[in-house]
Amino acid sequence: MLIAQLTDTHIKPKGRLAYNKVDTAVMLKAAVDHIHHLPQSPDLVLITGDLVDQGSHEEYAHLQEILSPLNLPLLLVPGNHDDRNVMLEVFDQLLMKPLSGFWQFCHQAPNWPLRIVGLDTVDAGQSGGLLCEERLEWLASVLDEDQHTPTLIMMHHPPFITGIGHMDEIGLKGREAFAEIVRRHANIELITCGHLHRNIRSTVGGRSVMTGHSTAHTVQLDVAPNAPAMFKMEPPGYLLHYWNGEGLVTHHAVIGDFDGPHPFFAESGQLIM
Ligand SMILES: [Fe+2]
Ligand SMILES: [Fe+2]
Repeated sequence: MLIAQLTDTHIKPKGRLAYNKVDTAVMLKAAVDHIHHLPQSPDLVLITGDLVDQGSHEEYAHLQEILSPLNLPLLLVPGNHDDRNVMLEVFDQLLMKPLSGFWQFCHQAPNWPLRIVGLDTVDAGQSGGLLCEERLEWLASVLDEDQHTPTLIMMHHPPFITGIGHMDEIGLKGREAFAEIVRRHANIELITCGHLHRNIRSTVGGRSVMTGHSTAHTVQLDVAPNAPAMFKMEPPGYLLHYWNGEGLVTHHAVIGDFDGPHPFFAESGQLIM
């Protein structure tokens, strides 16, 4: 099974740039095109929040239009730039969406080796995230129900301190209780997040956790408590999670036109020296 994870796509209304600088729509189209040209087509696409920039109908309609050529099963969770109620109204072709309340789900298609749990970390009106008691109880009960099936948890705010001060200030409340819950469940293969716009890995409650690279701008790499809130146009990317039959392996895909591929070996079979 192959899963593409896009994150922090920050789509604006048509013709508008994020922060007067970033053409997030063109960049997401490049990501969609990159996925189309992968040697293996993913079975599933995840987007871990900040789908759009301001949570408007117009932006979600624009996002749907850009994603539609993918024509792949899609699972989403909201981020702090999203509005879960507008998401509910606009998205009509999702594999799984909640009926009401928090945007949370647990889904496993019959041919999948792993199940996907979506967690809603949005604290309405706030940039930081929250896992309140209700959401944590739901997570614990879903995980208690099946202690064997390999499980991937997707959420927007990462449940760890990244070191990038201005982002940690808008981090996740409730992460200590989250860590205690996931500690009890060894079948959690990976907890994968967004929000940081860059690739970061850590361990929480003994489980692997990471954040994916944005398809657009990246948060400046500066692990200082007083790091200024700045972004940079580093090469955009996304994650490819590959189930190898034993576990989940995550590759970072870089979006862009690059020289190659070139052969390692000459036609004679000799390594090119
Ligand atoms: Fe974001
Ligand atoms: Fe965010």
